[in-house]
Amino acid sequence: MLKNKKDNGQTLIESEVKPELPKDFLRHQLQSRIEMLREKGLEDPEILQNLYPNTILDTGTLEALTAALIAGNNVLLFGPPGSGKTNLAKDIWEMFPKRNYIVDGCPVQDNPYSIFDSDFFKKVPACPFCKTRFGELSFSELGYYDPSKVDPNSVPVNLVTLREGHGLARIQGSPEVFPDNLTGTLNLQRLEKIGDPTSPLVLEPGKLLQANRGLLMVDEIGKLPRGTQNVLLQALQEHIVSPAKSRETFPASFIAICTSNLDDLDNINEPLNDRLSNIHVNFNKMHWKNRKIIDLALAKGTNDVFLPEIFLEGSVFITEAWRNASGDVYELSEVGSNRTMIDIITRSEAYTNLQERRMVSLQDFEKGAQHAMLGRIRARGGDSLAQNEDRINGFISKNLQKELRKAGRLYWCGFYKDILNEDKPEGKRVLQECQKVLKNPELAKGALRQDSSQKKYRKFGKFVVGREHYPGNLNSDEVVLSVFGLLSSLDVFECDESELKIKVAK
Ligand SMILES: Nc1ncnc2c1ncn2[C@@H]1O[C@H](COP(=O)(O)OP(=O)(O)OP(=O)(O)O)[C@@H](O)[C@H]1O
Ligand SMILES: [Mg+2]
Ligand SMILES: [Zn+2]
Repeated sequence: MLKNKKDNGQTLIESEVKPELPKDFLRHQLQSRIEMLREKGLEDPEILQNLYPNTILDTGTLEALTAALIAGNNVLLFGPPGSGKTNLAKDIWEMFPKRNYIVDGCPVQDNPYSIFDSDFFKKVPACPFCKTRFGELSFSELGYYDPSKVDPNSVPVNLVTLREGHGLARIQGSPEVFPDNLTGTLNLQRLEKIGDPTSPLVLEPGKLLQANRGLLMVDEIGKLPRGTQNVLLQALQEHIVSPAKSRETFPASFIAICTSNLDDLDNINEPLNDRLSNIHVNFNKMHWKNRKIIDLALAKGTNDVFLPEIFLEGSVFITEAWRNASGDVYELSEVGSNRTMIDIITRSEAYTNLQERRMVSLQDFEKGAQHAMLGRIRARGGDSLAQNEDRINGFISKNLQKELRKAGRLYWCGFYKDILNEDKPEGKRVLQECQKVLKNPELAKGALRQDSSQKKYRKFGKFVVGREHYPGNLNSDEVVLSVFGLLSSLDVFECDESELKIKVAK
């Protein structure tokens, strides 16, 4: 790597900076990360998840994506709403290496090798401004540009960090995104007057030019009009784009990361879709991975009420149950999404807050679940709305307690396994003492102290305190008692083989 920020083409050659496309940069980055993680002793599933730290997905999905990116493909992430497609696209950008050499003063940050390396020029041509500048040609003579005649010493180079608008462009798919938004516009007459090719009055770079050297993220690609999709197709095929009102071609060399909902897949032009490696981003099959999504989402916020962990697990179980039970109804496709799963928690907390209580109760959770799920019905006519509401309400009254009980059992059995080493008689004794304390809450005060007379209850209490996150305005005695109270009202004190085997989030 070069040390000086300002350099020229010749020093790039001498320091063996290779002429590379964005897909090569990403491939090398992926390979070196994987190697590094492997050296740390991580297993393949962990390595894959580590590459995309903000998006928790099944190993198979991550593997398919990683293979596609290493192969240098453009990708289409498709799947149900709220499965993490947009999140995943952002993770790919996070990973993309952003330090890069550009031609100093070029408005589309040309790769220096495009200027003087004939082979690379064939893959990605220089922009018209650089052609006139380094080839000493007029705009009418651009066809005569010959990279082999340019001395690399004469090409000033700059080391920059790619950022949005300069190596990253994002398009939100909608019918209002027209071809011009992608191509931009070029006005050569203005160049004669102004003289500065980087002036936006001369060149207004569209999204494809902004993405040059980096990534283009297209959210909801199926919502783009056909004409706009065709412009994108041309860029993917030829790595060039012609701005509106001009016949000049600019480099558009990038990796496209597109997303689509299942419903819009049919709206993607076939030749365009053929150029994209399709990756199905579905909901996680593994419970602990779903749980991790909630933990990740909540880690960003602050909690000013206490939400027992059982509710976190419960939100995952109820969402999973919905996914298994609900069919393929368009209006209900968002009800079982990861977004809803997170919403159930934030809504429950909101109810608690609203009532100025400090702990989330069963009732708060039930309300939270109901409103989060009802709120995800996609609006349709009145009759079907009422029907769908009935369906969700019916589902909740039939399943909520059952799923929460699963969560409660998982919790109690975790204690039984990890702390009591599955010692049945001791389990009974602990349970009896906990029940005694619950009946007489005075006993809970100070029960966690070393000199506590409630030694068995204390065992459970320490387990609870070690797991729960609670705000500073609560003391641990209250927390332990309320968690036991919740378990007791769910009646979960039995563990069989299946509970002891479920993998919980670490
Ligand atoms: N697999 C996941 N891992 C981590 N977080 C997730 C995942 N899926 C969803 N989320 C959470 O849900 C939110 C919505 O996810 P995201 O926007 O990525 O979904 P999407 O698949 O793009 O949905 P849509 O199809 O509606 O655009 C994210 O902000 C994130 O908090
Ligand atoms: Mg999205
Ligand atoms: Zn240029």
